[in-house]
Amino acid sequence: MTVLVVGATGSIGRLVVQEALAQGHAVRALVRTEAKGRQLPAGAQVVIGDVTRPDTLAAAVHGVDGIVFTLGSDGAGKVGAENVDYGGVRNILNALGSRTARLALMTSIGVTNRTGDYNRTTGSHDWKRRSERLVRSSGLPYTIVRPGWFDYNRPDEHRLVLLQGDTRQAGDPSDGVIARRQIAQVLVHSLTSDRALRKTFELVATKGSTPEDFDRLFAALDADPEGALDGVRDMANMPLGDEPPRVREDLNTVLARRSRASL
Ligand SMILES: NC(=O)c1ccc[n+]([C@@H]2O[C@H](COP(=O)([O-])OP(=O)(O)OC[C@H]3O[C@@H](n4cnc5c(N)ncnc54)[C@H](OP(=O)(O)O)[C@@H]3O)[C@@H](O)[C@H]2O)c1
Repeated sequence: MTVLVVGATGSIGRLVVQEALAQGHAVRALVRTEAKGRQLPAGAQVVIGDVTRPDTLAAAVHGVDGIVFTLGSDGAGKVGAENVDYGGVRNILNALGSRTARLALMTSIGVTNRTGDYNRTTGSHDWKRRSERLVRSSGLPYTIVRPGWFDYNRPDEHRLVLLQGDTRQAGDPSDGVIARRQIAQVLVHSLTSDRALRKTFELVATKGSTPEDFDRLFAALDADPEGALDGVRDMANMPLGDEPPRVREDLNTVLARRSRASL
């Protein structure tokens, strides 16, 4: 596959680039500056673009078979969460247009928790969840990975546990921990696994070793219901009717493209 990594210079994205190369994919990395691109492995093709500027994204999506999203706007508050975590996914999907690609989207454990301090301050959960909704509505084949706390795992904690329903919402590492490298592995494996199709899950690790068979882990999960906005068994606490008009418009754009494509 030709795999585009969006967020390629980030703490997860750079591992996704390495992992995708290791799994034999042709890797394209979307980066904001040439200097940042030089930090990536030589095997990756670097394209310059900014997800908040749709006019810069055509070359990134040209001819891709798969897209991994690992965007992050930490520290940029509600505006950053809307423009990057959400708007970045929207703008890439719009740039892709009616073409098909396999999607792997990283969001976060606890993404359906709207009332905690973190979401009330940053809006991060809500905007990431809206990006999930765009991906589900796109009609494209997808997997959504909601990792626990990055690299809070102990050295012997590599047994992967995939959960659904997003019920762990303490907002601290007691919700679950996971090595960054394993998040990258799961994202890249999901691109080529039919068992991962239309699946949304939280990803954490407990005591034990790295699994060999990712398909088996994916196979044990329930798929999101066809046409659903949220992940299977997610809390229904974000009614569409209460969503901002611009978000509903974005969803309508994605849905209209999907129905045109199926004609
Ligand atoms: N830390 C945790 O334990 C944890 C757990 C679960 C989920 N998460 C979520 O994971 C995310 C952080 O992942 P990370 O550590 O990989 O993030 P990161 O290191 O901050 O990387 C973010 C990536 O997004 C890119 N980006 C930002 N704005 C962009 C733009 N306008 N156009 C193109 N690219 C842009 C960055 O590019 P530049 O290099 O150019 O800035 C970078 O490649 C957060 O959103 C967080 O909510 C974190």
